[in-house]
Amino acid sequence: MKLLVFLLFAFFSGVSFSAGEYKCGSIECYEFSPDTKDKESLQRGLSAYMNYCYGCHSLKYSRYKRVAEDLSIPIDIYEQNLIFDDSKIGDLMHISLQESKAIELLGAKPPDLTLEARLRSPEWVYTYLDTFYEDSSRPYGVNNKVYVNVSMPHVLEDIESELSEEEYDRYIADITNFLTYVSDPSAETRKQLGIYVILFLLIFTAFAYLVYREFKKDLK
Ligand code: HEC
Repeated sequence: MKLLVFLLFAFFSGVSFSAGEYKCGSIECYEFSPDTKDKESLQRGLSAYMNYCYGCHSLKYSRYKRVAEDLSIPIDIYEQNLIFDDSKIGDLMHISLQESKAIELLGAKPPDLTLEARLRSPEWVYTYLDTFYEDSSRPYGVNNKVYVNVSMPHVLEDIESELSEEEYDRYIADITNFLTYVSDPSAETRKQLGIYVILFLLIFTAFAYLVYREFKKDLK
C-alpha cells in the first residue's frame, strides 16, 4: 500500500513538473533525436560548424585530432580543409576572437559551445537554429523564438533561403548532431562497451551457475 501511494505520488509530481513549462524559451522544443552514429552527418555538421560558427564560438574542451579520429577524417585532409589558422592538429579548438572585441562588435560574448548540447539539450539547439525570424527592432534585424532578444545574427540566413525547408532541417540537424557528439565524444564507445559488459556478465553468470551445480552435487 505504501509503495502504491509512493508510486502515485511520484507519478503525479512528475506530471505537475512537466506541465505548462516551455523547455525552449517562449515555445515548446521541436521534436529532434540526435544521431551520433551517423558519421556522414557528423562530418557535414563539422564542416558547417567550422564555416559558419567557429569564427565566434570556440570548442575549447575538444581537440582537432580527437574530432578527426572520431569522425574518420584523414589527418592531412582535416589539416588542409578544416584548420584555418596556424593551429596544430593536436591543439585544443580555441578561436582568435578576443572577448573584448566580441563584446564591442556584437554586444555579447559568444559562449564556447563544447558542452552546449548537454547544457541546453539537442532539441534546444536544433529549435534555436530553426526559429530565427525578422524583427526590425533588433540590431541585426532578426530575433529568435527560443533565445528572445539574442545578440547573435542569423548566420545561416543565406543557407536557409537557398535550401528547401527539408534541406535546411537536415542542415541544422547535422550541426546539432555534431554538437551533441562534441559534448560527449565517448558516448558511442561507452554504449558499445556497455553491450560487451552485459554479454560478459550473462556468459559469466551461466558459468557461475554451472559451477554452483557441481558444488551442490557434492553437498548432497
Ligand atoms: C558573428 C558571431 C557569431 C556566429 C558566427 C555564430 N554565433 Fe552563436 N552566438 C553569438 C553570440 C554573440 C551569442 C550570445 C547571444 C546573447 O548572449 O545574446 C550566441 C549564442 C549562441 C547560442 C546560445 C548560447 C547559450 O547561451 O546557450 C547557440 C546555441 C549558438 N550561438 C549557436 C551557434 C551556431 C550553431 C552557429 C553556427 C551556425 C553560430 N552560433 C554562429 C555569435 C555568433
